[in-house]
Amino acid sequence: MANAETWDSVPLAPPDSIFKLTAAYKEDTFPQKINLGVGAYRDDDNKPWVLPVVKKVTDMLLHDPALEHEYLPITGLPEFTAAAARLMFGADSPALAEGRVTSVQTISGTGANHLGALFLSKFYGWYEGKEVYLSDPTWVNHFAIFRNVGVEPRTYPYYDANTIGLAFSAFIETLQTAPPRSVFLLHACAHNPTGVDPTREQWSQIADVILAKGHYTFFDCAYQGFASGDLEGDAWAVREFVRRNVPMLVCQSFAKNAGLYGERVGALHVVAPSASAATRVKTQLSVLQRSEISNPPAHGARLMALILNNPELFEEWKRDIRTMAGRIIAMRQELHGLLTDKYKTPGNWDHIVNQIGMFSFTGIRAEQSQALTEKAHIYLTTNGRISMAGLNSHNIEYFAESLDKVVRGQL
Ligand SMILES: Cc1ncc(COP(=O)(O)O)c(C=O)c1O
Repeated sequence: MANAETWDSVPLAPPDSIFKLTAAYKEDTFPQKINLGVGAYRDDDNKPWVLPVVKKVTDMLLHDPALEHEYLPITGLPEFTAAAARLMFGADSPALAEGRVTSVQTISGTGANHLGALFLSKFYGWYEGKEVYLSDPTWVNHFAIFRNVGVEPRTYPYYDANTIGLAFSAFIETLQTAPPRSVFLLHACAHNPTGVDPTREQWSQIADVILAKGHYTFFDCAYQGFASGDLEGDAWAVREFVRRNVPMLVCQSFAKNAGLYGERVGALHVVAPSASAATRVKTQLSVLQRSEISNPPAHGARLMALILNNPELFEEWKRDIRTMAGRIIAMRQELHGLLTDKYKTPGNWDHIVNQIGMFSFTGIRAEQSQALTEKAHIYLTTNGRISMAGLNSHNIEYFAESLDKVVRGQL
């Protein structure tokens, strides 16, 4: 039986920094306050947006007389996982036709990262210790996800603070000097938190070194379609790596591109060298999944299966994706215009339009980020990352004016 001291040795954990930021924003009563920490899409009125196509399929499900609430298979809803794989790799992908891709439904992108990391931890032919190379910086959760399964994170240079761009040569050098068969986690598109992606030419060079060194690619793809508005274009790097036979897996999330944050719908795809290897991998993923969640949740997978497998609904979804990506891209352009043309803010701000996806690294220093929060009631992480989704036609002027002031040291 637990006694009074049982949990005395448990230290208090710090709160998650993003959730802390949101809590501080909520408490702030200043009318022009802005939350740029949020990692979810907001419409022009700063409201969460339910995609019209999602409303439609939710209604279809509700009125489906055949709907029951049985368990899904351990590896998920087959019509969802198959369609999700076609979306990621392309319907005409030879890897799919050859049966070399094994797909398992997961608890959104986080669950895909976890299952992928757990699978590698147990079955990857580790060369030395169990290590994974993460970009510096990366989505902070990557560190805990790998540590939880006994894989030690290392980092590779990614972001160059001087150019506010990709530290390409240093990145390539780390790929070259890492022990052979190392595992590299790559963000497939819309790198979080920097918004800086390699060009196609750079992706090809990255693939060259990965192949030459026999490294393994752990792709995290949380923003397909949401990044550029184009589902195919955002999957380019993944498909190019498959075409070139880079050994890899892909984590897929439908949180951002379908606005299904709470439904937790995602998939893990392992691209194997043969159909028989894919089958063996699937049996082991199934064993792991069984002990962790038994069966994945049905609702979000059913919604996505309807959208992905019906040509008309799929077209509607693509329109909705373009609405979200288009608004974000418009905010980038407007902010860039305000800083360069209206305020003539010192420095070069081209990175605002060159970066991609929900996040942008502004390049401002930690104390400038803090000043924006403390003096202008603009909430952002101290690394200067802003969520473009938090900007809209009502607050962008105030943000640009405040950013200009903080850059000039006038805030
Ligand atoms: C890089 C990256 N990977 C994975 C995720 C996982 O998101 P979710 O579990 O909500 O699909 C996110 C979400 O912010 C992300 O930015």
